[in-house]
Amino acid sequence: MQAWLEERLGLEGVREFIAHKTVPVHSATMWYYFGGITLFLFVIQVLTGILLLLYYRPTPTEAYESVQFIMTRVSFGWLVRSVHSWSANLMILTAFVHMFSVVFLHAYRRPRELTWLSGIVLLALALGFGFSGYLLPWNTISYFATKVGTDMAAAVPWAGPALARFLRGGEDVGGATLTRFFGFHVAVLPALVTMFLLVHLGLVQKFGISIPPNAPRNVPQMPFAPNFFLRELMAWYAALGVLGSLAALFPWELGAKADPFAPAPAGIRPEWYFLAPFYTLKLIPSHVLFIEGELLGLAGFGLLAVSWIMLPFWATSRAGMLRTRLVTGAGVALLAYLAVFSALGYWR
Ligand code: HEM
Repeated sequence: MQAWLEERLGLEGVREFIAHKTVPVHSATMWYYFGGITLFLFVIQVLTGILLLLYYRPTPTEAYESVQFIMTRVSFGWLVRSVHSWSANLMILTAFVHMFSVVFLHAYRRPRELTWLSGIVLLALALGFGFSGYLLPWNTISYFATKVGTDMAAAVPWAGPALARFLRGGEDVGGATLTRFFGFHVAVLPALVTMFLLVHLGLVQKFGISIPPNAPRNVPQMPFAPNFFLRELMAWYAALGVLGSLAALFPWELGAKADPFAPAPAGIRPEWYFLAPFYTLKLIPSHVLFIEGELLGLAGFGLLAVSWIMLPFWATSRAGMLRTRLVTGAGVALLAYLAVFSALGYWR
């Protein structure tokens, strides 16, 4: 059988590649698991998403009722929905942990700039999954949070109104928005994520796992197969334990059906991963000198996002020296901002 497959597929090269793949062993090796955990949670998303698709209906008259049906009448439907929702949040969290570990281990540096950029795209797509999926149950909170989110998009100068109209499929959040978000969530985003994942993982294979600049010379290496892979499996098993416990002990709620004619409930806020920019915009006064406050905030976020995306390019000086302290400082500052403003946005 092996010889038959070998002759047709030529697997010797793959086996050879895996046999020589190694992972550096140092005090921060555990952070290498987070890319894999993010990948594992994405696979869970795809599997549970396909199960939800068997019953879900993307229209304003049926969406809420179909989710209610999944939760009350379909065997283990409540668990599948709860796992899908919890896993979405955990996946975004682990993607952020993975990104910050890449920053603090300085793994973005030459020649891994494209690995970093493809990672940024994956993070944006993961946030897009969260934003589009949030509306699908068509409940009060998701409806009004989508209104707030698309209003923020509308405030972007020049392209904003067109962008908001494109997202909503009209002037306001309604049935067209739901159908559109469903299309993004189950077709457009999965296709894009698959493409960028292939690029990301292909680049990781091409360059191997980086060695941090401050690691000792001749840092020991662990074979990827089976040593690192078995450890990674343990990490996935732990992630599954956390996910299963959260989903079973704190089942995801459905709330009340959205009523577009009702006034927005007090204290409406987006998902936790959008809280920091949301709360910052709330703090900015309506006018700063002659400029509209919201515009100023959005311009600030745009500038921050571009500098973060371009990190691998300003991390190295013209003389080719890596600015480790500057990058670590920027990483700590961004992490502190996100943590503090998300917490404030949640509790205020
Ligand atoms: C959201 C989905 C993502 C998935 C599924 C994913 C997956 C992975 C995996 C499996 C690895 C190899 C193991 C590891 O180093 O952890 C990896 C490495 C890497 N990722 Fe990601 N990643 C994602 C997002 C990101 C983001 C947001 C960034 C940064 C902006 C990023 C940048 C990198 C870099 C630079 C490496 C190489 C690390 C090294 O060589 O040490 N990734 N990713």
